[in-house]
Amino acid sequence: MSCTNFLLEAVGTSSMRFVVTIDGPAGSGKSTIARRLAGQLGWRLLDTGAMYRAVTVAALRAEIDLEDEKALGELAARTTVRLLDDRVLLDGEDVTTLIRSVDVTRATKYIAGSPRVRTQLVEWQRLASEDNHLVTEGRDQGTVVFPEAFCKFYLTASLEERARRRHEEFTTKGQIGSIEIVRKDLSDRDDGDASRTIAPMKPADDAILIDTTDMDLDQVLTRIESEVRARLQCHNSPS
Ligand code: DC
Repeated sequence: MSCTNFLLEAVGTSSMRFVVTIDGPAGSGKSTIARRLAGQLGWRLLDTGAMYRAVTVAALRAEIDLEDEKALGELAARTTVRLLDDRVLLDGEDVTTLIRSVDVTRATKYIAGSPRVRTQLVEWQRLASEDNHLVTEGRDQGTVVFPEAFCKFYLTASLEERARRRHEEFTTKGQIGSIEIVRKDLSDRDDGDASRTIAPMKPADDAILIDTTDMDLDQVLTRIESEVRARLQCHNSPS
């Protein structure tokens, strides 16, 4: 894309805040890349999966029927989730570790599949972009939440490789479990995220697709950062 073409798109946005979206399945590397990219650019990071996870904790604690759409909507409306640096606060309580537990991870599909919860969380996510340049990661950031984003990426990797990465991550944290179970959990989550009717996980038409299977994190970051910086350069000196 030439600078001129890019600028025509960027100027058409409602806000001059820049948003970079990074979507893709679990284990594709998007969380780490988003965090590092945000650090490099000095922009705000939005881990939208953490928001869905935090609302899941609230729902489990409230013992509401996870398929009761009305109850989930009411719960999301009275819940506060804040992302502060590396911490996730649910109604003021630090749930950073709890949201990564297996039980919470497995239950997120109900929360992520709730239209009312999604409406609420999309509102929070868009609010976060009002005062900040943003690097945001999730499943629907480029398609639904920020369709006008300045730069969109969709990261993938083979299921085998993603399972290997997740298993290694768990092992490093001292959590014992077989790679087969990790692979099955990832595969189930992929299926649920990609097949749901509301905001399914998929690349935006204008997203840059990166298969990270055979790439290390530095290579992915370099690829993404150079693309973002090239587009920023276009913005700053369009000629
Ligand atoms: O990225 P993650 O694994 O922390 O996300 C947790 C779950 O939340 C995931 O299974 C899908 C869902 N999710 C979503 O539906 N939309 C987002 N923007 C982010 C996450």
